Amino acid sequence: MAALKVGVLISGRGSNLQALLDAAAAPGFPAKIVAVVSNKADAGGLERAKRAGVPAFAIPHKDYKDRESFDRAVDACLREHGVEFICLAGFMRLLSDWFIGQWADRIVNIHPSLLPSFKGLHPQAQALAAGVRLSGCTVHIVRPELDSGPIIVQAAVPVMPDDTPETLEARILTAEHRCYPLALRLIAEKRVHVEGDVVRVDGAAPSADALFHPKAV
Ligand code: GRF
Repeated sequence: MAALKVGVLISGRGSNLQALLDAAAAPGFPAKIVAVVSNKADAGGLERAKRAGVPAFAIPHKDYKDRESFDRAVDACLREHGVEFICLAGFMRLLSDWFIGQWADRIVNIHPSLLPSFKGLHPQAQALAAGVRLSGCTVHIVRPELDSGPIIVQAAVPVMPDDTPETLEARILTAEHRCYPLALRLIAEKRVHVEGDVVRVDGAAPSADALFHPKAV
């Protein structure tokens, strides 16, 4: 099977992009990163793409009169590079309904919470304020509503009693770097099936162990 051609949209440091680039560099990985686009010219992730030999483009949203004209420029760039599937990796712009319609069920996002909890900005601080014992990350199909859409993979991490938003963010980020390549592999292997508001994953081994936190001693 030919490798799925993936475009990654970023706005910042690109550590999730790096995880995807590293995974895609392994022999036999079923997806290939063919283009990286940032809406910010100074995004660190652009350098990561260049280092990996992947075409990288800055398309500053400020150069466009409205959301859809920016989205049309991104769409054109991705198509020019043969992109078949899009990963959002710290991309801090809402996409227009037009763009999401063009790429229906072919855009995924990673969010640092166990969705549908804690959508939007500062999900780690939201988790601490809510006093949850477990948080984590979610890779999901993108639908027009922010941080919504069928869930593909989640990973849970414990929230520690002395956590700050920063320490929780770091723990979740480590999980993100495993979660995103796993989700992309499942997608590229055509094992991810969107059925309405949920995803069915073919042949995935469910993890049957419950994670207790705190656990009884
Ligand atoms: C990650 O926590 C991701 O889940 C969120 O934005 C952050 C991006 O980090 N959407 P990086 O740019 O991938 O390092």
